[in-house]
Amino acid sequence: MDIYRGYTPVLNKLLEQMLGYFRTENKLYQEKTGDSLYEHLIGRVKQPKSMIEKCQRKDLPVTPESALKVNRDSVGIRVVCNFIDDIYTCIDLINNWDDVTIVKQKDYITNAKPNGYRSYHMILDVERAEKDIEGNTPGHYFVEVQLRTIAMNTWASLEHEMKYKHKIKNPEMIGKELKRVADELASCDVSMQTLRHLIREED
Ligand code: GTP
Ligand code: MG
Repeated sequence: MDIYRGYTPVLNKLLEQMLGYFRTENKLYQEKTGDSLYEHLIGRVKQPKSMIEKCQRKDLPVTPESALKVNRDSVGIRVVCNFIDDIYTCIDLINNWDDVTIVKQKDYITNAKPNGYRSYHMILDVERAEKDIEGNTPGHYFVEVQLRTIAMNTWASLEHEMKYKHKIKNPEMIGKELKRVADELASCDVSMQTLRHLIREED
């Protein structure tokens, strides 16, 4: 069964368009300030296999409705910024996009998860001409956006790898150490931000 019921091309197109929005903003920002809005940008349409697993994990029926409307991360974008401030600049810009509504935000930067995870998460509702799975025209499609600094991304990548790829013998100790590293990295992010501010003030 096709968990996306033929919507894969629509999701791929939506992903490319959303990446395009970010790239355009970055270009404008570079022209205006000489700096990049982000260090790198990645996106993906969730693999059908992963989406099926997620539905099963959440006790949802394995249907296109679950994949596209209940789960809201079939299309996902990650924006990795140099500085914390840049994340909030991106959020302001996203707020101004005409066909995009922010329907949920979680600021795991101000409020880190207990394990030390930091990132800013949003769910966008994007309006598109293509009829959606519920039969609405124009259609509404969800996109998950995660915004992080390079330091937050480094931590999240390692933690993800350890959680999913390795059997950890002493999870308590490792968890405690990971949390400590997350807090150290967060402190570095704040210092780097302050340094940039100081450098800019000198201009
Ligand atoms: P889902 O429905 O599973 O997405 O749950 P949720 O909406 O409560 O998700 P949340 O916003 O907490 O996190 C969604 C995504 O953020 C995950 O799929 C991961 O990519 C990332 N994430 C959240 N918590 C962690 C974490 O502790 N470690 C890492 N490495 N990534 C995380
Ligand atoms: Mg989520």
